[in-house]
Amino acid sequence: MNLNQTRLEVMHYLAQTMDQIVEAFLKKIDENWQPADFLPESDSPEFIEDVKELRLACKELPYDYLAVLVGDIITEEALPTYESWLMDVEGISKDKREGWSKWIRMWTAEENRHGDLLNKYVYLSGRVNMRQMEISTQHLIADGMEIGTARDPYRNFVYTSFQEMATNISHRRTATLAKQFGNNHLSKICGVIAADEARHAKAYKSFISRIFEIDPSEMMLAFEDMMRKKIVMPAHFLRQQGEKIGTTFTHFSDAAQRLGVYTTSDYTDILESLVKEWDISNMRGLNDAAEKARDYLMGLPDRFRRVAERSAIRVPIEYEFNWITR
Ligand SMILES: [Fe+2]
Ligand SMILES: [Fe+2]
Repeated sequence: MNLNQTRLEVMHYLAQTMDQIVEAFLKKIDENWQPADFLPESDSPEFIEDVKELRLACKELPYDYLAVLVGDIITEEALPTYESWLMDVEGISKDKREGWSKWIRMWTAEENRHGDLLNKYVYLSGRVNMRQMEISTQHLIADGMEIGTARDPYRNFVYTSFQEMATNISHRRTATLAKQFGNNHLSKICGVIAADEARHAKAYKSFISRIFEIDPSEMMLAFEDMMRKKIVMPAHFLRQQGEKIGTTFTHFSDAAQRLGVYTTSDYTDILESLVKEWDISNMRGLNDAAEKARDYLMGLPDRFRRVAERSAIRVPIEYEFNWITR
């Protein structure tokens, strides 16, 4: 049996419990929060007053904070890229509505609220150059992404486990910072989004746990491969108008690092928590290559920390984000 065949069988096996998976990790649409729950109601007589209040609460938000928030929004708005990427993974077929495609569609439907909510919020805030933000969003969707997973479900679910945790951290931190800047409304918005990401992370991590039970060696090798390549962020091609592909991403992640919204030590912490979550140290029944992969993975968090200690702190570069209205 070739590797591909085993993966297809594993995916097929997991898809048989799709109803329970959806029930456990996603919310019912009618009961789920919607962006409108957190925004001024435009059909209410109080709308103008509510918007005035919202704009006042955004007046003092610092430059770096807004840049990171807008980068986060653009990342969320590139959801078509993620949905189409996942729909193309081996073992996921758009023809079978009840299997994995059901998960992808329902996950996408939940995720779609994140960009919607934040986009409308910053539009009302008066602090963001919407046209420039929209140009960056269109570029990012048009540029796509290259995350090193190919069409492999194992690598893709490692990626999504990691990524949902990373977005949970960054939205959680933007929530905390919003509160510090006196904006409880924005804090609540980032908080509900962060909670979604945490729930999604749990789901993807559980898929990997189950794959480890069935196909431990191949799962270990896939995890190792992703960590050797390094997990790139989904917005790694981010750019502003007139710039080369990926130029803005570096400045966006520098700003996130400066603010403490998402840092290199978060990357290591996520890796460490995945190693724990999947009980890598106790994994048995591995072939020789997978044993080596396990040892590599277990030593990796410490290695990253040592490198981080040695590397010099980068001097912040002045960069003009054309998304922000000063
Ligand atoms: Fe999201
Ligand atoms: Fe997410």
